[in-house]
Amino acid sequence: MLGFFDSGLGGLTVLKEAVKLLPQYSYLYLGDNARAPYGDLDQETIYDYTVEGASELFRRGSQLVVLACNTSSSAALRRIQQEFLPEKFPEKHILGIIVPTAEEIGSFTESREVGILGTQATVNSLAYTKEIAKAFPEIKTYEAACPMLVPLIEEGNGDSLEITDLIQIYLNELLVQSFEIDTVILGCTHFALIEDQIKRQLPYGVRAISQGPIIAEKLKDYLSRHPGLENDLEKNSKRVFLSTDDSPRVESLSSLFYGSPVKIELVKL
Ligand code: DGL
Repeated sequence: MLGFFDSGLGGLTVLKEAVKLLPQYSYLYLGDNARAPYGDLDQETIYDYTVEGASELFRRGSQLVVLACNTSSSAALRRIQQEFLPEKFPEKHILGIIVPTAEEIGSFTESREVGILGTQATVNSLAYTKEIAKAFPEIKTYEAACPMLVPLIEEGNGDSLEITDLIQIYLNELLVQSFEIDTVILGCTHFALIEDQIKRQLPYGVRAISQGPIIAEKLKDYLSRHPGLENDLEKNSKRVFLSTDDSPRVESLSSLFYGSPVKIELVKL
C-alpha cells in the first residue's frame, strides 16, 4: 500500500492527484485532524507527531509513506530518513514533498524569482529556499508565513470573507518583497483547498503552483526507478482513510476535498 500522511485535510489534495495518475495502487491516508494544525508547533513536537503518523501507516502495511505535508517534510523528513527509519523500519521508504517541488520549479518561472507561502514552521525552516538554491542556484526566493489560514480551512471556513482578507494580507507580505516574482508556490498542502481564492487575488502575470500534480508525477517516476518496491505494492485500488478525528465535520470536509465520498476510520496515535 502507498501511505499518505498529513496533519489534516491538506494531504488529500495530493492524494487525489496521485490516485488520478496511478489508480491501480491501494492507498492508505492518515490525517491527524485532532492535533492539526502543526504549523505553529515547535520542531520537536512536529517530529514526534510525524513519526507517530508514519509509524501507524507502516504498521498497517504501507511500504512507502509520502509526507503530504510541507510542515512535516521540513521538520521531520531528514531525521526520519537518517535515524528513525534505518532503526525501526529498515525495509520501508519515506518521501517528502519539498524537494520534489523545488526540483520542478525551474520550469514554471521565467523571471527566476519565486515566492513561497507556507506555515510558520515551514517558512522558519527555510527549507524551500535551501532546496531551490540546490536545484537552481540562479533563482531568487522570497517566503511569507500564513499562520491563520490552516485553522480556518480545517474548520471548513475556506469560503469566508475572513479568508479572502487574510489571503490579501499574506500575498501583499510576499509580493512586496519583489515585483519580479512571477510564480508563487502554495507551500502548504492545505492551501490547494483555497487555490481558486488565491488565484483570484494574484496580480496579472503571477501564477500559483499547487503541489498535487507535481508530487503525483514524481511518485510515478520514483516507483519506476524502484521496481522492487513497485512490485511489492498492492494493486487492488483500495482507498482507506484514517483520522484521529472522525467527527461528521472531518468526514464531510474530507469528502469535499478528496472529490468523492470518504468514510473515515478513527485511529489513535
Ligand atoms: N498541510 C500542511 C502543510 O503542508 C500543514 C498545515 C498545518 O498543520 O499547519 O504544511
